[in-house]
Amino acid sequence: MNTLEVTGRTLTELEGIIERGQQTFVEVGQALLEIRDRRLYREQGHRTFEAYCQKRWGWTVRHGRRLMQAARTVQAIEKGTNWSPLPANESQVRELHPLMAAGAAEVVKVWQDLRAEYGDDVTAERVKRVVTHRLKEIKRKRQQDEDTTPMTPSSDDFAILHGDAYDLLPHFEADSINAIITDPPYDSSVIETCGWLAQEAARLLVPGGSLVLLVGQYYLPQVMAAVSTHLHYRWTLAYLTPGGQSPQVWVHHINCFWKPVIWLTKGADEYVRPWMSDVLRSDANDKRFHRWGQSVSGMAEIVERFTLPGEWVLDPFCGAGTVGVAALTLGRRFRGIDRDEKSFTLASRRCKEAVDACAAGKNGLA
Ligand SMILES: C[S@@+](CC[C@H](N)C(=O)[O-])C[C@H]1O[C@@H](n2cnc3c(N)ncnc32)[C@H](O)[C@@H]1O
Repeated sequence: MNTLEVTGRTLTELEGIIERGQQTFVEVGQALLEIRDRRLYREQGHRTFEAYCQKRWGWTVRHGRRLMQAARTVQAIEKGTNWSPLPANESQVRELHPLMAAGAAEVVKVWQDLRAEYGDDVTAERVKRVVTHRLKEIKRKRQQDEDTTPMTPSSDDFAILHGDAYDLLPHFEADSINAIITDPPYDSSVIETCGWLAQEAARLLVPGGSLVLLVGQYYLPQVMAAVSTHLHYRWTLAYLTPGGQSPQVWVHHINCFWKPVIWLTKGADEYVRPWMSDVLRSDANDKRFHRWGQSVSGMAEIVERFTLPGEWVLDPFCGAGTVGVAALTLGRRFRGIDRDEKSFTLASRRCKEAVDACAAGKNGLA
């Protein structure tokens, strides 16, 4: 005799149990969001949210993140509509989530359209098909808009903050940044820094958004391991740095003419950008503004490949603000952080000059 015969419950009753269980995913995701954002996991001695998910619940951080993304997506629909039934299970919401990159209003519209067309029979497969189609339409429209009206940034389109990125980034809004492009210090702290940043990026980036890290070769294996638990690893590009004196790595007898650029995204499926080459080039070794400064031409190549005009770029270790100058000159928006006062002042000045040059119609990438 099996269990079903013992309890004698009907299929409808049993499915009701499954349905109610599925609906709690939103509450679970909301609870997790609060535990993460208020750092409540520290009360139990966990240093990171990842450790908390693993030790307390036996989950990968990816699973926890999926539940939080689902909660945010359902919250967006709940705020934006008062008539439509909300998504009933996590698999529907998982397929809807990529649209959050285009704004909550898009998610609401697509969900309402799906309900209108399929009623209670909105399967995850149907959601995926409609969302993929809509994302392609949005991208095509944005590219057309770009061609006709390139964005001219104003002072509201950038902010440089003076302070420690570890203190400031947790206050940035979730799902608000399209790409984090940064060049952190390359000493042994780079492993912990990049691991921490990838964890923050999983919260800050819009779905499908990119984390682009310029790192040295020295700690590359450890950095890769630290970042790829939080985000989806995409590729490693080569950033060629011809000209000037090449760094000499005495211990390995290497004259170094390139650095790795690690590219990761938030989510594996949401990436919708054109083809690109995996070699990037700087036309000069520009140390005029910062001892470890990059050239505007090199940073512009990166900004152009990983973002579209109007999008938000963040550099939490911005030095003299070179990524910001490139981003603003290319009609993107920018936020930068540096804890060093001189770098902060320089970055603020250079970004302001870039915005003024755009306003005056002199936005060359010199
Ligand atoms: C390699 S430099 C960046 C140079 C920059 N790409 C440029 O072209 O000017 C790294 C910067 O990170 C800053 N930094 C290091 N740790 C930091 C932290 N925890 N918070 C904020 N800034 C930090 C340093 O002050 C330094 O200016």
